[in-house]
Amino acid sequence: MNVTRNLGLGMNKAKSAKSGRHETSRGKVRVISGDALQMLPTLESESVQCCITSPPYWGLRDYDHSSQVGSETIPISYVENLVEIFREVRRVLRKDGTFWLNVGDGYARNGGTGRCGPNARVGNTKKLIQKRNCKVPDCWGLKDRDLMGMPWRVAFALQADGWVLRSNITWIKKAPMPESVTNRPSNATEEIFLFSKGTNYYYDNEGYREPTGANLRNYWMIGPDASAKPHPAAFPRELARRCILLGSRPGDIILDPFSGSGTTGVVAQELRRKAVLIELNKDYVKQSEDRLSKDVQETLWV
Ligand SMILES: C[S@@+](CC[C@H](N)C(=O)[O-])C[C@H]1O[C@@H](n2cnc3c(N)ncnc32)[C@H](O)[C@@H]1O
Repeated sequence: MNVTRNLGLGMNKAKSAKSGRHETSRGKVRVISGDALQMLPTLESESVQCCITSPPYWGLRDYDHSSQVGSETIPISYVENLVEIFREVRRVLRKDGTFWLNVGDGYARNGGTGRCGPNARVGNTKKLIQKRNCKVPDCWGLKDRDLMGMPWRVAFALQADGWVLRSNITWIKKAPMPESVTNRPSNATEEIFLFSKGTNYYYDNEGYREPTGANLRNYWMIGPDASAKPHPAAFPRELARRCILLGSRPGDIILDPFSGSGTTGVVAQELRRKAVLIELNKDYVKQSEDRLSKDVQETLWV
């Protein structure tokens, strides 16, 4: 397989040389290693039909890179960074394109580290919150244990930046992470927002329907994938599948600027779409390439 073959997913070569990007291709999927903020400007304007992504959640996991999103000291900087990155996504989207954003919430916390405090170590998960000094961020009037409402803060900021907010889909997790809380219900949902670039956009109402044949509703019950995944925050293939079927046609280009283990690319390939993936952490870039290579022999198409 020629992994450097040009797939016709145009890019600006001048900017490419400057940014020192590293890129490979598997089938019809380009995997770009680097910071989304640096790499997105190298993509051609209005070349992508649909963006599906899940950025790191603020203050949660440590992805071991100085440019990682999610490690900002205050959450307002996280919102600002996402707005800036997704502004570039808007530029590369076709006029009738859509953007599907899965973003999670978190609690403002204050307290000690150790076995029992609000920032107690949980298993072997590397948590950003454990690296901070457990001070409530000086932002939005947050108090200890306040739910930040981050998904909606991000959604409103994106709306103010020019995106049209078309739907909030509640992802109901069939097998949520157990939480040992006793003073509130444990969390079992996340938000997926559907944004469009303009008021007229491509949405295939027949692409995915309720089992009864009715119009798809805005709550999706989806369980985790059966296969064990080394990425700690991969989303289920079914989530990407629904967004791709609703937001694109075969042959269209799908973008994921926080692609992790490459789920969006794997599903795009299965559904005969092209894809561009951007990921900062080289281990996850390698994981995506391996996952895509496994599937590519069966799904390679022209
Ligand atoms: C929630 S995970 C995405 C998981 C992905 N949906 C999957 O199924 O594997 C977010 C990813 O964003 C990456 N990331 C963090 N900051 C980034 C940045 N500035 N540019 C590109 N990727 C970044 C992290 O390394 C992490 O793999």
